[in-house]
Amino acid sequence: MEKLGLMKKRMTVERIPGFMASIYEKATRMVIESYYSQVAEEVVSRLKAGVILDLGTGPGYLPIEIVKRSPSVRVDGIDLTRKLINMAQENAVRAGVADRLHFEVGSAAKLRFEDSSYDMVISTGMLHMLKDPIKVLRECYRVLKSGGEAWIYDPAKVSSQIDIVKWKASLTFGERFVYRLFSLPGLFKPLHAYNREQVTEMIAATDFKEYWVEEGDNEIKIKLRK
Ligand SMILES: C[S@@+](CC[C@H](N)C(=O)[O-])C[C@H]1O[C@@H](n2cnc3c(N)ncnc32)[C@H](O)[C@@H]1O
Repeated sequence: MEKLGLMKKRMTVERIPGFMASIYEKATRMVIESYYSQVAEEVVSRLKAGVILDLGTGPGYLPIEIVKRSPSVRVDGIDLTRKLINMAQENAVRAGVADRLHFEVGSAAKLRFEDSSYDMVISTGMLHMLKDPIKVLRECYRVLKSGGEAWIYDPAKVSSQIDIVKWKASLTFGERFVYRLFSLPGLFKPLHAYNREQVTEMIAATDFKEYWVEEGDNEIKIKLRK
């Protein structure tokens, strides 16, 4: 594992800092149709009814798109960033689907949920940010019901679909200032995105025996079955 550098310590922030939340939210809002709707379609094609856990839910757009499409599905979303969780709650109310969504602050590496409590676990764009991805995959296994699947999309095609010019124009003066500061080279280096070999190695350290890894344009999709 160490030869792949997975555990390499780097100066990094695992969560999206609160002061970046509104900037991030504005970017994700621009790709609801082109990204989250499509992932939601894939998810509901697998699960027509049941409970899903979304890890690193951010502003909650994926859970919202899922429950809009499937009246018998509930989604719980967790994230380390309180500000994003507040936004997710507000977005759910605005979309009129708050009754089937629950958002709370929590760590994907230490879930408060009981064993075998979810039909599906999903995540977009979180894996590359994690300090201990294996711990998170083990938590996915623990909270999944037998036969349930974890679908992890990373780093998420979101960034390749954002109209950067339009997005920057939507930022306030303060947000633009923060964004520039945040972009200083090396200040908040994201952890690297993983390739198939690295992901396979991670999975081997868990109890998941059935899995599929799909490497595509700007994104790796991992499907794990308990
Ligand atoms: C790139 S964002 C993706 C957010 C959302 N899934 C989306 O597609 O817009 C990754 C999110 O994972 C959250 N995150 C990172 N590490 C986490 C952890 N250990 N537990 C829970 N959330 C985490 C970050 O705060 C951030 O909101």
